[in-house]
Amino acid sequence: MFITFEGIEGAGKSTAQRLLADHLQNKGYTVCTTREPGGCSLGRRLRAVLLDARTTGLRSKAELFLFLADRAQHVGEVIRPALDEGQIVLCDRYVDSTVAYQGYGRGMDTDQLVAVNNLAIGGLWPHLTLLLDLPPEMGLIRAGQRNKEEGTVISEGRFESESLTFHTRVREGYLERAAGEPDRFAIIDASCPPEDVLLQCVSAVEAKLREFGRVVE
Ligand code: TYD
Repeated sequence: MFITFEGIEGAGKSTAQRLLADHLQNKGYTVCTTREPGGCSLGRRLRAVLLDARTTGLRSKAELFLFLADRAQHVGEVIRPALDEGQIVLCDRYVDSTVAYQGYGRGMDTDQLVAVNNLAIGGLWPHLTLLLDLPPEMGLIRAGQRNKEEGTVISEGRFESESLTFHTRVREGYLERAAGEPDRFAIIDASCPPEDVLLQCVSAVEAKLREFGRVVE
């Protein structure tokens, strides 16, 4: 089963991913945790370019195709093989990030973005997308603190440095997509503590596992 985490900066996706992976492994599932950009060796090089605040003047289309190159390689090298082995894949960001950031954030045509993404992923859409939702004011404060603590303000700060209105558009984009595909998306209230976020994620995942006849009690 293929599960993605989505949300604005500082929504707590990587913490939720880690806690959910532990939870599922304790239940006996084999789990593959990965992320975009940077889930494969080519992607790690692309990530350095894409997220570095010193990457200036990058055209929106060039940015898009770098994310898509990362995704196409990642699907072929990591995600599809793990799914073929029956693993549960937990991926931090995927296609919906492109539609939210490059589409709603940068203003590119969202139908075109879905079409080029579909080409990059070869039709491999997630079974479940956990949308960690919270107000951008809250997310940006959290993300800024994390980058300061980890010393990544410059090396990973290109998107954090976008305006609040940019991140507000991204959040609205995510919510619009979730409303359009209610069977795939679960909206998680990410403003609560990590344990509560985990509980919400677990209940959405268990519902999906039940649907697929793969639930372990
Ligand atoms: P990341 O470190 O994953 O962000 P976070 O810590 O918030 O999860 O950085 C990825 C950044 O790249 C994030 O700001 C969103 C952006 N992004 C896009 O604009 N388009 C995409 O397709 C992807 C995958 C990420």
